[in-house]
Amino acid sequence: MAASSGYPALAELKGRDFLSSTDTTAEQTSALLQLAADLKAGRTHIDLGGRSLGLIFSKASTRTRVSFTVAMARLGGQTIDLNPQVSQVGRGEPVADTARVLSRYVDALAIRTFAQEELAEYAHWASIPVINALTDLEHPCQALADYLTLQEAFGELGGLTLAYVGDGNNVAHSLMLCGALLGVNVRVGCPQGYEPDAAVLEQSRQLAGNRCSIDVVHEPVAAVRGAHALYTDVWASMGQEDEKAAREAAFSGWCLNEELVAEADPRAIVLHCLPAYRGLEISSGAMEGSSSSIFDQAENRLHAQQALLAALLGGA
Ligand code: CP
Ligand code: NVA
Repeated sequence: MAASSGYPALAELKGRDFLSSTDTTAEQTSALLQLAADLKAGRTHIDLGGRSLGLIFSKASTRTRVSFTVAMARLGGQTIDLNPQVSQVGRGEPVADTARVLSRYVDALAIRTFAQEELAEYAHWASIPVINALTDLEHPCQALADYLTLQEAFGELGGLTLAYVGDGNNVAHSLMLCGALLGVNVRVGCPQGYEPDAAVLEQSRQLAGNRCSIDVVHEPVAAVRGAHALYTDVWASMGQEDEKAAREAAFSGWCLNEELVAEADPRAIVLHCLPAYRGLEISSGAMEGSSSSIFDQAENRLHAQQALLAALLGGA
C-alpha cells in the first residue's frame, strides 16, 4: 500500500527533505504519528519495493542507526552504512560531489553531523530526500518518536504539557518546534546560560500561535509542576566533551529525580532520548520507575522513522 493512499496529508512529502521539525506542517506531523501508530499496531503495511537508504553518520549512534536500518528493512528496502571513516567523505571529498554521486545510487540519505549548514548543503546538492539524523541544532526524528510516545499515553496531544528539564540543546529545540505544531505546551527548565537558541524559541512561539505556549523557566519545580511528560537529555552533547566538568557544576540540582516526578501530573510519563548518564541528568529511580516510558520511546524511533521514510519515498 502506498503511504499516500490512506494518509492524504502525507502525499506532499514525497521527494522532500526532513531537515527540521518545521519541514512538516501540523497536519503532516499528526498524519506521520498516525501512520507510525498504524504501522506499529500492524493495521497497515507498506512495501517500498527495494529502495535504498544511505547513512552518513559523523557522530556515534545506536538507536538512530539501528532503527533506520530496521525501518528500511521492514519497508522492503535496504540500508548502506556510509561511515565517513570508510568512505571518501572522511578524506575530504566535497559535499557537492558526494551528494550528487550518492543521489545516483540510493533513494534517500539520513545524515548525522555537527553543523545544520552541512546538512543543508547535502540537501542542496542531492536530488533525493535528505533526513536529519541529528545535528547540533535539531533532532527532528527523535521528536516524532517522543510525541508518538506521549500520544500513546494520553490519546490526544493538544493541551498536554511537556516539561524538558536540562540543556537547551538540539533535542530541546525539536521538542519545542514539533510540540508547537502539535499543540503541546512545552516548558523548558534550565540554568541561566543554557537556554535554547533564541531564534528557535521565537520560531516555536510563532508556530504555537495561541494554541499552546512555549516557555523557558530557570527553576526545576516550576518547569515540571503539573506536566504530563518529564523529559531530559545529557548535559554535555556530542562535541561538547571538553565542557563536561563545567556543565556538571552548572547543572547541579537539575537531576530529573523522583522528587521532581512527584510534582508532575500523577499520570505523567518520564522520557529520555538516551543514551543517559544515570545519577547526572536523571536518577536511576526516575529512569526505572513505573512512570518511565523511556524504552517505549526508544522503540518508537523505529515506527516513527518507518512512517517518515514511507512518506518521503512516496510508497512503491
Ligand atoms: N537518541 C538517539 O539519537 O540515540 P543514538 O545517539 O544512539 O542514535
Ligand atoms: N543532545 C544529545 C543527543 C544524543 C542523542 C547529543 O547531541 O549528543
